[in-house]
Amino acid sequence: MKLNKLVSSAFVALALVTVAPAAMAAGGPEVKMVGPTASRVDAESLQRGARLFVNHCLNCHSAQYMRYNRLTDIKLTPEQIKQNLMFTTDKIGDTMKASINPKDAKEWFGAVPPDLSVMARSYTTERLAAYMRGFYRDDKRETGWNNMISPNIGMPHVLAEMSGVPTVREQVFKVDGKDIKTNGEAEGKARAAFIAATTMSSFEHHVEKKEGKEEHHYIVRSIVPATDGKLTPTQYDVAIADLVNFMDFVAEPHKAKRVQIGILVMFLLSILLAAAVWLKKEYWKDVT
Ligand code: HEC
Repeated sequence: MKLNKLVSSAFVALALVTVAPAAMAAGGPEVKMVGPTASRVDAESLQRGARLFVNHCLNCHSAQYMRYNRLTDIKLTPEQIKQNLMFTTDKIGDTMKASINPKDAKEWFGAVPPDLSVMARSYTTERLAAYMRGFYRDDKRETGWNNMISPNIGMPHVLAEMSGVPTVREQVFKVDGKDIKTNGEAEGKARAAFIAATTMSSFEHHVEKKEGKEEHHYIVRSIVPATDGKLTPTQYDVAIADLVNFMDFVAEPHKAKRVQIGILVMFLLSILLAAAVWLKKEYWKDVT
């Protein structure tokens, strides 16, 4: 148990320093993802994530490989699970099912919400967090929302009450004869703006033909966090870290244990190595 504690505090320390901006370019625009991550061995973070997940995601999505009684792994008692987290069923051995009928969902949102059991693995946790931090107001869309990671997605921003209404700031850099004289200069200015951005941002490059000449357009878009939500932007980012932490647990419930065992094995091996080195020294001490 002591070792468990030690390992978990080491993880918490690690998680604190990895407030990692990661970049992504998979076709489409390059995206800079910004925001904290949470630790897999932080049971409180997982519990907060579970609460968000059952309250805000199971309305539309299922997690058909996850059973409610599995939540005892994140240190919740069956009583707590029953009282606080079960809305769509009353059997604790049941899997997490959506409250919405998939047919209705298809009709309302134009797409069936995918099962979220292994979403953290297929989508990656970084991308998932960026997706949940990437919603912004877009009046051109039927839902009223758009998303930086998944443009024109059918899902509305279901956590808007927490985040408030984020918007997007768009900066376009192209040759204009005044401030910007060449395509290269436009790219340089756009890159600088992209690097300087402190919120989730994307970098896009289009080529347009103008009077037979090619003009390069560089577009930098940044999420402008809202201040009208129940949470501050920083608190919202932490809540998303918890949510994604929980979804990572759902996708692979044994991961934390495996990592702990791995660390223990490395520790024991290093003791063995030290013993072997000491033995070798002792053994050869009087030979030469
Ligand atoms: C109001 C219904 C609704 C709720 C509530 C909802 N979603 Fe969705 N979600 C959808 C729909 C519909 C899609 C599919 C949209 C599409 O393919 O255009 C979707 C898609 C997704 C995707 C895939 C995105 C992609 O790029 O393909 C993820 C991830 C996701 N949802 C996560 C969540 C999480 C996490 C929550 C809880 C915080 C949540 N959703 C709550 C309706 C919902």
